[in-house]
Amino acid sequence: MDERLIVALDVPTLPQAEALTERLGDAVSFYKVGMELYYRSGAAAIAMLAAREKRIFLDLKLYDIPNTVARSVRVLTELGVDLLTIHAQGGRAMIAAARAAAEEAAAACGRPRPQLLAVTCLTSFDAATWDEVAGPVPIAERAVRLAEVARAAGADGVIASPEEAAAIRRTAGADFLIVTPGVRPAGASRGDQQRVATPRAALAAGATHLVVGRPITEADDPRAAALAIVREMEAVK
Ligand code: C5P
Repeated sequence: MDERLIVALDVPTLPQAEALTERLGDAVSFYKVGMELYYRSGAAAIAMLAAREKRIFLDLKLYDIPNTVARSVRVLTELGVDLLTIHAQGGRAMIAAARAAAEEAAAACGRPRPQLLAVTCLTSFDAATWDEVAGPVPIAERAVRLAEVARAAGADGVIASPEEAAAIRRTAGADFLIVTPGVRPAGASRGDQQRVATPRAALAAGATHLVVGRPITEADDPRAAALAIVREMEAVK
């Protein structure tokens, strides 16, 4: 069980999520619950993973005014999750409010504080589609800047593409979490991801955790696919 591998439970129903975790068994200890599963099943999805003693990354990518985000972080902290996402784009005040709310709620309910990950630039952007929304600012430059704002405001880490991980690691220092989606073993389909890397390359670039969805969840044998990725990861310590 390599806790650096986080499997995205991108399925629409709780029974499907349960079946997948059952199939993956002890090969996977860390799961990401995203919008699809959470909007359908809510706290029951979190409870299902907690009952299996799995670590939990709740990826709802909160982005709103500071007060609204803080109130949401408070209730999500009470669920008991290890990682929680907010958008770096929400800015310093929103991120700081999220951090304060997580601390207060964790102290009040006697649970550990979830670590906050700030989403920088989605891995589905390429240079051309990024230019459409952001203008002529290179993605890597913007991702590093967003990571700096997030770190200064109290985020524990970021979600970033493997392509930006090394630059973020250089500016953020050793303790900052860098969680990279867009991970594709050699030969796997990209799907809608544009800025991708192999598990080995993502870790070598400074990622602390890898989020992998479809290459595992849509494999004929998900457990074998997960174990193959873990083997590749173990080669990079
Ligand atoms: O199936 P795939 O491996 O592409 O899944 C990647 C997961 O990571 C998805 O659940 C997606 O929502 C998430 N993610 C991402 N890019 C980000 C943040 C999260 O792909 N910047």
